Amino acid sequence: MATVEPTAGRVTIRQARRADVDAIVAMLADDELGARREKPGDSRYLTAFDALEADPREFLAVAELDGEVVGTLQLTFLAGLSRLGATRAQIEAVRVRSDQRGSGLGRVLIEWAIDQARQRGAALVQLTTDASRTDAHRFYERLGFVASHVGMKLALNQLYRSGTAPAARSDVGGPTDGAGPAATWRTSC
Ligand SMILES: CC(C)(COP(=O)(O)OP(=O)(O)OC[C@H]1O[C@@H](n2cnc3c(N)ncnc32)[C@H](O)[C@@H]1OP(=O)(O)O)[C@@H](O)C(=O)NCCC(=O)NCCS
Repeated sequence: MATVEPTAGRVTIRQARRADVDAIVAMLADDELGARREKPGDSRYLTAFDALEADPREFLAVAELDGEVVGTLQLTFLAGLSRLGATRAQIEAVRVRSDQRGSGLGRVLIEWAIDQARQRGAALVQLTTDASRTDAHRFYERLGFVASHVGMKLALNQLYRSGTAPAARSDVGGPTDGAGPAATWRTSC
């Protein structure tokens, strides 16, 4: 996959580098839902970045404007047997920096991802978005996405429970850790 793609205006979309991780995490955290589950500065983000970078089915993208990271998304290519062995492209963790929202950057990012999916022969592009994100639903529908499925998730660790992220991996528990019913956990993008 090409790692650098010139896009509309002064925005460039490229593969994320290790040095971008802080800016990406800051965007993930700068959001009502993300603020409850992210922990900027935690070393686990760099470990996760290394795993993403080493995986040819993953592409962590950033949008750069005037040398600053102002948007991100993760594109994953999922192999499968169904639909005659179709590849699916999955979009996750979409964020535009809060001071840049509403200016068309999100559209540029998603259209770029769809184009990458087409180039790689994917048969469809899929994503989930938290049921509470009504602005984002309108955004995706305008880009052609159809809410044809009901997304279901099962949280397996405390990171997705309503509240703040645990301080360390040893704090991570499951539904039996006394933390409350799984139904109260948040598991969406
Ligand atoms: C959703 C998001 C990626 C869209 O990017 P963007 O650059 O703001 O979007 P564009 O300018 O291309 O398109 C504008 C549309 O985005 C949506 N949007 C705008 N501001 C938004 C915000 N603060 N939060 C959510 N959606 C927003 C609206 O649907 C808007 O259309 P409208 O003007 O009719 O209300 C971006 O706003 C964002 O990061 N929001 C917060 C996190 C989020 O919801 N991420 C998606 C998780 S799946």
